[in-house]
Amino acid sequence: MKCTRCRAEAAVALPSHHSAFCPECFLLFCRRMVERAIHDHAMCTSEDRVLVALSGGKDSLSLAWLLKELGYTIAGLHIDLGIPGASPVARRITESFCSRHGIPLSVLEMEPLGLGMVEVRQRIRRPICSVCGQTKRYFFNRFALDNGFTVLATGHNLDDETSRLLANLLRWDTAFLADQGPVLSAQEGFVRKIKPLYRLSEFETANLSFLLGIETASAPCPYSAKATFPVYKALLADLEDRQPGRKLQFYEGFLKHGRQHFAAQGKTPLSFCRRCGSPTSTEICGVCRLREMMGAPAEVMIAISSPAVLRTQDVSGSAEKE
Ligand code: AMP
Ligand code: FES
Ligand code: ZN
Repeated sequence: MKCTRCRAEAAVALPSHHSAFCPECFLLFCRRMVERAIHDHAMCTSEDRVLVALSGGKDSLSLAWLLKELGYTIAGLHIDLGIPGASPVARRITESFCSRHGIPLSVLEMEPLGLGMVEVRQRIRRPICSVCGQTKRYFFNRFALDNGFTVLATGHNLDDETSRLLANLLRWDTAFLADQGPVLSAQEGFVRKIKPLYRLSEFETANLSFLLGIETASAPCPYSAKATFPVYKALLADLEDRQPGRKLQFYEGFLKHGRQHFAAQGKTPLSFCRRCGSPTSTEICGVCRLREMMGAPAEVMIAISSPAVLRTQDVSGSAEKE
């Protein structure tokens, strides 16, 4: 198999793009996909301070690598969820990636906030993944706003986006469908959120991180066994096998023809949480209610830049409490 671009020996076959690439040209392909996503959706410019949410997985680390390579001003945020076995590995990998690539990193620890996922899991009835997701989104946003970032980037890829879209469509969840897309613009209380990897599949980001020699945390979360998205991912993977290119068409088609209809139906009006001031559709936001349930002390609740919970690592790689 020859590289479609330079005719050297190909390393990655991409039936969905009717192409195969050698390592060098594959890298160029990934770069172009991200450049195109950023350009087509006006995600960010060189003026922005971009906070990249780094889980330690292949997607977010590849994203940070690409954004840095493209010349954007980036810093990383890792949320240490306190899950035994998984969190220490993810954290170590993220810290070593950032120090190797000169990316300033902040680590926010959930345990000192009274929100370690082991304890949360013991106390709540809802599925832990949805509570964990809500908590992470809350702190991504708060951290970005409190520290002067203009954009928050996450490593969601095409498979994440299409499986979420399919799940939302199957439930006809109009509120979620109105909000789904690679960019959520900034509004009061919300930083702009972008997903520059949305045109790249999981297979492509896995190959990218491998070819770049990035060590990644690959073990699935031990609490995610009951998550539903893998079912939709498997269905879409089967469809993609039979009809290469379908996933990207499905998602781009939704952005072009579908989303506007859901957005036009209007959104739930937001007010601001009486405890922490974050946007919410209820009087007290979900995370503040969780804190109350967990008995987390009030002063720790909002002090996300408190010295007890925030550890920063400078570009030379030395980690120190600020
Ligand atoms: P997931 O929902 O686990 O598929 O993660 C989607 C994206 O959220 C990742 O690509 C990261 O950008 C971000 N993310 C997930 N978990 C964390 C974490 N513990 N710390 C920082 N960012 C995270
Ligand atoms: Fe949050 Fe698994 S990563 S519950
Ligand atoms: Zn709140």
